[in-house]
Amino acid sequence: TPITVLISGTGSNLSALLRATAEPDCPYTVVGVIADRDATGLEQARTAGIPTEVVRLRDHADRAAWDEALAAAVARTEPQLVVLAGFMKLVGPPLLDAFGGRIVNTHPALLPSFPGAHGVRDALAHGVKITGASVIEVDAGVDTGRILAQVAVEILEDDTEDTLHERIKTAEQPLLVDVVRRLAAESTGR
Ligand code: GRF
Repeated sequence: TPITVLISGTGSNLSALLRATAEPDCPYTVVGVIADRDATGLEQARTAGIPTEVVRLRDHADRAAWDEALAAAVARTEPQLVVLAGFMKLVGPPLLDAFGGRIVNTHPALLPSFPGAHGVRDALAHGVKITGASVIEVDAGVDTGRILAQVAVEILEDDTEDTLHERIKTAEQPLLVDVVRRLAAESTGR
């Protein structure tokens, strides 16, 4: 099953997805990596010979034009599944219309708690003892889609946003890979 991964940052989730393709029974291949900025995570895709594209908001007249351009870039890679792996933009109607029901996202908190761009910081600030990561199906809302999988991560006394986020990422990556493997295997079967 061909999948396309959307990133905005370091791409640690992308790394985990790429590492898993080295396994003989991996049911998916990464056919494209698309970013909304010059994300450092693009480098590993280029090294792996995977087509990449950067679709910058500032290169387009407005948000609607960017939404269309992003959907077109994803469509060009012809994926069966779209994975948002640290993609820090809301998915607009064009992408949802074209791939709705086949887009998953990973969020570094136990949704519905702490949605949005600062889930790690918000959990820490709130003083919860347990947080984690959630893999959801993407819908038009902010981190509101159907929850597909979750993993709990303990918050430690001396945690900072960075130490906590690193620990969450350690748990989040296998969670995301497992969900993508399962969905890809189902998709192949269909
Ligand atoms: C991940 O924790 C993801 O859940 C969140 O942003 C982080 C991105 O990390 N949306 P990376 O860019 O995959 O390293």
